[in-house]
Amino acid sequence: MLLVTGATGNIGRALLGEVRARGAGWPVRGLTRDAARAAFPAGVEAVEGDLAEPESVKRALDGVRSLFLLSRLGPDAEILTAARAAGVEHVVLVSSITALTHPHLGPARENLRVERLVKDSGLAWTILRPTQFASNSLMWAEAIRAGETVRAPYADTGLPTIHPADIASVARVALTEPGHRGRTYALTGPKPVSARHQVEAVAAAVGRDVPFAEISRQEAYAQMVAVFGDEAADAVLDVTGGDVNDELLAVRDTVARITGVPARPFRQWATENAGLFR
Ligand SMILES: NC(=O)c1ccc[n+]([C@@H]2O[C@H](COP(=O)([O-])OP(=O)(O)OC[C@H]3O[C@@H](n4cnc5c(N)ncnc54)[C@H](OP(=O)(O)O)[C@@H]3O)[C@@H](O)[C@H]2O)c1
Repeated sequence: MLLVTGATGNIGRALLGEVRARGAGWPVRGLTRDAARAAFPAGVEAVEGDLAEPESVKRALDGVRSLFLLSRLGPDAEILTAARAAGVEHVVLVSSITALTHPHLGPARENLRVERLVKDSGLAWTILRPTQFASNSLMWAEAIRAGETVRAPYADTGLPTIHPADIASVARVALTEPGHRGRTYALTGPKPVSARHQVEAVAAAVGRDVPFAEISRQEAYAQMVAVFGDEAADAVLDVTGGDVNDELLAVRDTVARITGVPARPFRQWATENAGLFR
């Protein structure tokens, strides 16, 4: 049995589909806090549990051999202890590329801490370090639906944004095929795409113009601080343009090497998700 956490999310939902289609017959279970809303594909077992309360996840871990784990949704040390006690053999953890590129930032330090917990857990492990997700552009969906101007800082900084389904594809291979234990994979999309180009791609997918304006870091910070808090807002602004470095800008071929299929371009994500912006 394979257990997918975050199973209603960007990566998790795609991973459920991947395992059903190409998972070599692995039975798969999706964890959610609300099974009635989850609407998992046929053949996926829905189990309720809250990672913030590891006791509630024990039932979901029953009989599980491989675990797909989003980090920092609960006390990761306790979750890993419960996984080991349940007989889990292998965990595939979603960390972040900032653990490599910006280890001094608070969120990256947290991811490095969880990576260390996984390595020390006694379980076999694979660590995925994806760059920023294409789905982050959903933060503009409300403005686009309302016909308003999208406002973003660092408009022309191109980062190799990744389609979450590519993270799912790599996770599926790591979970169900041999040769990926003890590996850490930095994952990116196929080419750099700036905020301005993302909005253009969404506009093309939606079929109408979307006005765009670059704003200063100070303006963006003022919008973000209420949601993320001070340290995380600054960290997000650093890694979206304020303090990028060659490692963060680099396009990597990891997705293609592991899955045998080139990484999906941003415009594919925009086309698949156009309905969310209409
Ligand atoms: N966005 C980026 O650019 C980026 C970059 C690098 C790494 N990451 C990492 O990627 C992960 C996010 O992945 P994603 O975009 O696929 O997730 P997502 O779409 O934000 O979905 C989060 C999922 O987690 C579940 N969840 C939330 N709190 C939970 C809890 N207490 N217990 C159990 N489940 C809970 C939710 O499911 P229910 O509501 O159904 O319970 C939901 O399906 C995070 O770990 C983030 O740090 C993100």
